[in-house]
Amino acid sequence: MKKTMMDLNLTGKHVIIRCDFNVPMKDGKILDDTRIVESLDTIRYAVGQRAKVILMSHLGRIKEKNDLEKNSLTPVAIHLGDLLRLPIKFINRTRSEKLKEIINNMKEGEIILLENTRFEDLEGKKESSNDSELASYWASLGEVFINDAFGTIHRAHASNVGIGSRLPNAIGFLVEKEIDALSKLENPKRPYIVILGGSKVSDKIGVIKNLIEKADKMIIGGGMAFTFLKALGYNIGSSLLDTENIDFCKEILANYQEKIILPVDVKASIDTKEQSSSRNAKINELHSNEMGLDIGIETIDLFIKHLTNAKTVVWNGPLGMYEILKYSIGTEQILKYLTDHKIETILGGGDIVAASKKLGYKEKVSHASTGGGATLEYLEGKELPGLQVIDEK
Ligand code: 3PG
Repeated sequence: MKKTMMDLNLTGKHVIIRCDFNVPMKDGKILDDTRIVESLDTIRYAVGQRAKVILMSHLGRIKEKNDLEKNSLTPVAIHLGDLLRLPIKFINRTRSEKLKEIINNMKEGEIILLENTRFEDLEGKKESSNDSELASYWASLGEVFINDAFGTIHRAHASNVGIGSRLPNAIGFLVEKEIDALSKLENPKRPYIVILGGSKVSDKIGVIKNLIEKADKMIIGGGMAFTFLKALGYNIGSSLLDTENIDFCKEILANYQEKIILPVDVKASIDTKEQSSSRNAKINELHSNEMGLDIGIETIDLFIKHLTNAKTVVWNGPLGMYEILKYSIGTEQILKYLTDHKIETILGGGDIVAASKKLGYKEKVSHASTGGGATLEYLEGKELPGLQVIDEK
């Protein structure tokens, strides 16, 4: 068991909290503040313990000078202050003499937020390569390190692994919640059903390989289902096809056909435009100019049949092009079934969480992960460096 915030004395100490404030933004506006909201408990607890709170996060990816301005954490600082109803002192630097001075003069309960840690990537990728000089500098700013950035926990960067390996450390409440939920999948109540969707098989190969043995059934929808259907010899029209992975699908189907549940019909159209007409087509009736954009009516029933007695469900990737209302029905109906029947359901981050939020189910599922890549890597059975660096109790 990893140390949690409760295991450390934070009072009066400079506590560095690595958050994941990598939120979607457009023209300086935050489009979805879930990750900020989910980090509030940790920050409030540290403030309540009268820690001197030093927040750090990355935002986006920094490759050239042009990336700097649009990836500043300024809007996050403002929004975080509003949510906490506390002043946040934003330091528009990742290091400076002034920063040291500000930190030395911090009062108990005060909060500062440093500029985007990936600004350090501009010259020499110092953050992303876990540069030891940078990690030592950042570690020198604090006395305790809390990793609450679940979304980044699969990265070995200076601001998580680097600082974490140099200071007494623990995980924050957000990471604790994520690990508690995901670790239920190690000994799941059965039947244990995995639902996979999204566009590419290539993104899910690791998850399929890791979970196919453990799961009782694997339900596959979304664009990736068509590569499996192609592998079975169906004419998939102009649906998404991951040509390079047809052989992988053939192999999985040959070994686990009884476990894999694929669509039997789809919502089909000639393009992805909302205004184009669409029809419900059986999987062997697709015209060559048609593409499947959602699971069909019979498939919804079929998937529900396989979910009827489920005790644990983990779901990664939407079942259709949920951004368009008429292609969100498959995803919506399955979310409705799972939540109406109170089936333990873990949404594995990224697009399926965005879909559940849009469709009004995010608050109803057992757990909606804040991690995209991180959750995927967890489901692939990989080690998470940002977690590994944290001390055991
Ligand atoms: C994410 O959004 O997946 C995390 O914040 C990690 O971001 P990254 O993929 O740019 O490392």
